[in-house]
Amino acid sequence: MGILNKFFGKNETKQVTHKSVPRHIAVIMDGNGRWAKKRGMPRSAGHAVGAETFRTIATYCKDIGVQYFTVYAFSTENWKRPQQEVDALMDLFRKYLTEAAETMFERGVAVRVIGDLSPLPEDIKNQISEVDKIADSLGENAATASLCINYGGRDEIKNAVKKIAEQVKNGEINPEDITENTISKQLYTANMPDPDLIIRPSGEIRTSNFLLWQSAYSEYYFTDVLWPDFKTTDMDGAINAFNMRNRRFGGV
Ligand code: IPE
Ligand code: IPE
Ligand code: MG
Repeated sequence: MGILNKFFGKNETKQVTHKSVPRHIAVIMDGNGRWAKKRGMPRSAGHAVGAETFRTIATYCKDIGVQYFTVYAFSTENWKRPQQEVDALMDLFRKYLTEAAETMFERGVAVRVIGDLSPLPEDIKNQISEVDKIADSLGENAATASLCINYGGRDEIKNAVKKIAEQVKNGEINPEDITENTISKQLYTANMPDPDLIIRPSGEIRTSNFLLWQSAYSEYYFTDVLWPDFKTTDMDGAINAFNMRNRRFGGV
């Protein structure tokens, strides 16, 4: 490895010290399609490079001390894309899920998949069970990288409401005892703190149904960089911006 690589390549992570790092960072991994289009490549090629970016950035986050890293990989609305693209994304999950979970396991990162997994193809569901087992073997204190697949914030809240309604119907809880925590506990993110920082690359300034309940007091960071181009230095930029924010949570 040359001297420049040593300082600016793989080891660049060691050169940066952050004032503090958010406990939970979430990313809307957007811009894969435009990245591919700019290069005259099929959209699926953008998704494949985006998957590699996920692995790099998730591992970097772990290395700098981020406990939870959560990414939006496939929304409840993404089924409306052309069948060919949906199929390509499913194939990508097939190709990368177990492999990413294994390589990230070696780096001490537990990969989890969250969302409504019921409509996913059977073989992918089985793969997700395997990925869960790998994550379980790392123990509770490992850094977690969660992939949101068939995730929708409204869908998640609707499912939570259904479960709570069942509990009320069965006499397990009284409506007057329902707290915000009762709801949080029924979300896919039940055992995680809310995201401190939510990053959306690709220039779009909207949430697109991501973590609606959990983002009540998240800091947002938007950048024009397309997700496949997103580098560890872009993450540093987002964290630096986060560290300049004054979070008041409604106080003074
Ligand atoms: C994000 O990239 C990945 C998914 C939504 C699956 P896009 O595919 O939305 O890329 P753009 O927004 O078309 O560039
Ligand atoms: C949001 O991106 C979903 C994911 C990144 C998985 P989209 O590309 O689907 O969002 P819109 O359609 O531009 O709002
Ligand atoms: Mg998009």
